[in-house]
Amino acid sequence: SKADVAIVGAGPAGLLLDHLLHREGLSVVVLEAKTRRYLETSPHRIRAGVMEWGTREILVQVGLGEGLLQNGYEHQGIYLAHAGELRRIDFPSLAEGWRIWVYGQQYLVRDMIARFLEEGGEILFEHEVIGLENLASAPRVRYRTPEGREAELEATFVVGADGSHGRMRAFIPGLSLKERVYPFAWLGILAEAPPAADELIYASHPRGFALFSMRSKTLARNYLQVSPEENLEEWPEERIWEELNLRLEGVAQVQPGPLLEKSLTPHRAFVAEPMQYGRLFLIGDAAHVVPPTGAKGMNLAVADAVALFQAFWAFFKTGDEAKLSRHTETCLEHVWQGEYFSYWMTHLLHTHPDPFREGLRQAEIKQVLASEPLQRFLATNYTGHHTTGRW
Ligand code: DHB
Repeated sequence: SKADVAIVGAGPAGLLLDHLLHREGLSVVVLEAKTRRYLETSPHRIRAGVMEWGTREILVQVGLGEGLLQNGYEHQGIYLAHAGELRRIDFPSLAEGWRIWVYGQQYLVRDMIARFLEEGGEILFEHEVIGLENLASAPRVRYRTPEGREAELEATFVVGADGSHGRMRAFIPGLSLKERVYPFAWLGILAEAPPAADELIYASHPRGFALFSMRSKTLARNYLQVSPEENLEEWPEERIWEELNLRLEGVAQVQPGPLLEKSLTPHRAFVAEPMQYGRLFLIGDAAHVVPPTGAKGMNLAVADAVALFQAFWAFFKTGDEAKLSRHTETCLEHVWQGEYFSYWMTHLLHTHPDPFREGLRQAEIKQVLASEPLQRFLATNYTGHHTTGRW
């Protein structure tokens, strides 16, 4: 039997596309190299926690809102801390009523897997894709089963949603990567501890940036700017809490609690182009990565999945391939907006190793704190006017 669409990768991008196509009665097969347990619980994967308003709206409208509405939180702003002062950026008044929604990406993935399997969908966990053939006309996906057997399936289209380390983009001839390595990394922790404040605090401090986020009223998610060469072993729990509080001095304090995870994320960015070849299409981190500041990664994945769904829908309903042929251009529009905002937030907030850049940064953050138009720029981008806002 032949699937309408084979999706490689069961992350937010692949699972959302899967759900949208399945709802329209199309046959979809998802192949995922990892185990279900790994996707839902692996403690060593830093995952996002902030949804743009458009992301939340999309998920609720297509029937994926149950978990997030029950266990997520609306935030109407963020705090910027600088020079001992705490400044609130109020989203509704600066961004035409838009807000954000706090809900962990891993929880969303768990919800989507459960929902899809309930509806009789097919996710092949522990199935590793080892080759793609005939992409120009009638694609075949070769894979290895958990038992080590090799097999293949046919699909009208193949989607690479296999993340930043995925192999699907290598099947696009002539693909180019536009890349940036940032001189920053985050040491991230998840702890059974109260969050530092009722909303997120982005703290610019001479010792380095710190971010105080959360997953619930009793789960704090905090990050410290460190060097990309940092050794995690040199950061015992007490040192992490001490450093977090040093960077919050004068504005707030955090209460230590048991760590559930601890990890290091170097900041990098890339944009792959084109995002398609023949009947293969890329979405999400398989095609582009942003540094984490500003929380755009999962939102761009959602924007890509929605765009590709609309293109598939046009094709399967009417045979019109125009939207499919423009997949790259359509996505690059919101992708570059997301890259730009992530770049801007990253440089605004992180202490720069180069003294001249650091001088410029100090000037810039003072302008942002003094300027309503710049705060409006921050609020509209953060809430998603330029990314999922098109929905
Ligand atoms: C989180 C991550 C981010 O990159 C960000 O900008 C805000 C919050 C988080 O993991 O909670």
